[in-house]
Amino acid sequence: MMTQNLLRQEVADLIPEIVALRHELHEHPEICFEEHWTSDRIAQFLEENDIRYTRGHAGGTGIVAEIKGQKPSDRRTVVLRADMDALEIQEETGLPYASKTPGRMHACGHDGHVACLCGAAKTLIQNRHRIRGAVRLIFQPAEEQAGGGRRIVEEGILDDVSAAFALHACPALPAGAAVAGDGPVMAGADFFHIDIIGHGGHAADPANAVDPVLVSAHIITALQSIISRELNPWDPAVITIGRVKSGTAANIIPALARMEGGFRTLSMHVRHHIIEAIPRLASQIAAGFRAEAQFALHGDGYPPLCNDPGMAFFARGVIADHFGPQALEALQHPFMASEDFAFYLQKVPGAYIFLGNTDKNNTAQIPLHHPRFDFNDAAIPMAVELLAALAIRFFENAAAD
Ligand code: NI
Repeated sequence: MMTQNLLRQEVADLIPEIVALRHELHEHPEICFEEHWTSDRIAQFLEENDIRYTRGHAGGTGIVAEIKGQKPSDRRTVVLRADMDALEIQEETGLPYASKTPGRMHACGHDGHVACLCGAAKTLIQNRHRIRGAVRLIFQPAEEQAGGGRRIVEEGILDDVSAAFALHACPALPAGAAVAGDGPVMAGADFFHIDIIGHGGHAADPANAVDPVLVSAHIITALQSIISRELNPWDPAVITIGRVKSGTAANIIPALARMEGGFRTLSMHVRHHIIEAIPRLASQIAAGFRAEAQFALHGDGYPPLCNDPGMAFFARGVIADHFGPQALEALQHPFMASEDFAFYLQKVPGAYIFLGNTDKNNTAQIPLHHPRFDFNDAAIPMAVELLAALAIRFFENAAAD
């Protein structure tokens, strides 16, 4: 293939600009739906490079750019997506380009994702003659908590799209490696609370009370039996009660206890099973103890993120052709964390690719969402070339027809 050789030099010429842009983005972290500076900076970059775009998407700060081939022979559109938002973390990297905003930082590498998609946009606009269809670049707000990805789908931005791809920094892999797994690669996430309504009283007189703290303890224990005794052992899932709130003093039996938790699943049938099982167990255990349990799901949650096997195969082929077979890592197992690109992949086939992000010599890998995490600039050349190549080669890929 000639494409990689041609792209390689063009991407190399862009790297200093993209690294500088990444550092600038890192200095200006903004959390979900507040990505105004980020949105303006992306718009400025697109303007400078004569790339057409529209603003105001997915709650206001999203940007959708479009690059059409010079003489398009293919009517299809392929999407490349970068998430834009930062986290509520106080940065501790001590870097010269560390966050200028107290309590906010790019600790999930989304600064790198945005910069690399800008680099891919510039590479693609310079290579319009190689694009047979249209490439849509989505700069998406609010990945971390608020489901910006769901809004992108609800706005119809994917309605005419044939495939979608996204990258995410992966500190568990060295820079220069990438993974495109088949099927579920990240879990769905749902959150809930259960209120246990008992009957308050004196701590010394439990016979005249219904103790919701004791009931919640039985429910917390029983919920883990959903994983061990209701699900197939080959269907992984996690249930966590992360918060229990009850009572005011050691000598009072309270009237109410609230448990807050979440669960992670890799398939919709397991997700539906757990949504049915938690209130069933909670209400019947509570009833057995003369209390009442009220279960509530918080919102719609995130579905599992499932790569289309054909698109993942295509992505692995692009990685191997451009960077050699040694760049291709196998997915050891799916991650139980969640990602709202899952909404895209419910709508269109595509692949979510983990981008190696750790220095080969760095044995102390700093995880995502850590106050000392920083996107590795050494991963930028691969990310820019890979994104551009996925878009160009998608239209050459017979398997994608
Ligand atoms: Ni992230």
